[in-house]
Amino acid sequence: IRAMCSEATQIHIFDDSEALARGAADEFVRRVESKLESGDRFSVALSGGSTPKRLYALLADPPYRDRVAWEKIHFFWGDERTVPPGHPDSNFGAADEALLSKLEIPPVNVHRIRAEMSDPAEAAAEYEAELRRHFKLGDGAFPSFDLVFLGMGADGHTASLFPGSDALGEERRLVVATWVEKLGTHRVTLTCPVFRKAACILFMVSGADKGETLRYVLEDAAEPPRYPAQLIRPDAGELSWYIDGAAAQALEDLGGR
Ligand code: 6PG
Repeated sequence: IRAMCSEATQIHIFDDSEALARGAADEFVRRVESKLESGDRFSVALSGGSTPKRLYALLADPPYRDRVAWEKIHFFWGDERTVPPGHPDSNFGAADEALLSKLEIPPVNVHRIRAEMSDPAEAAAEYEAELRRHFKLGDGAFPSFDLVFLGMGADGHTASLFPGSDALGEERRLVVATWVEKLGTHRVTLTCPVFRKAACILFMVSGADKGETLRYVLEDAAEPPRYPAQLIRPDAGELSWYIDGAAAQALEDLGGR
């Protein structure tokens, strides 16, 4: 892989999606081991969609499985679809099938967004309360995840923060229900200030179809940003982009640096 770093952003280019998943698994284990040297638990927000599925499968098997103190890991989600947990579109369902169901994880460590509720806004409020409880937050405070995995769509959305969404400007609430016009459905998503407070944000982007958007997201500093993924800049944490060769092919400018 080639790693290019700027003052705040690390870009790791992997040969293919398998190498990307292994790189992300290595980083997850490394961060868990580091945090648990001094802390008693590790809070991670998982992303949805297809890209992270291989990562979850890797973590469920040796050697990764045996290197993590799973009982100290707390699982959250960056966003969720308004479907039941067993539905094929469920982000929780994907992680549960590939990883959680295969490990001895205390149920209290799995913090699922109950987005199947009839009122998505109520699901968002309930999840916000769960975050406040877990992170022991006072009013106006935001949680700081030890690690946030995010993906990016070809339209530059991340989590369920889509272009033009009213959720993009939310700076007070931790979790919102948002109508996604292009999908004709509601989603429940964490908000930008929550993502920004993370100790580490790790984007995983795979596939040639995202290359052009990725190039714009990584190279353009125009204001206001064109894509939601550009809004996710950590206040003090690290930002890493893990991308595969197919997505990187549109980054030939960066490749030369
Ligand atoms: C979701 C994800 C979303 C995802 C991107 C990329 O709920 O769909 O949170 O933000 O990360 O859409 O999805 P793929 O990994 O399937 O390309």
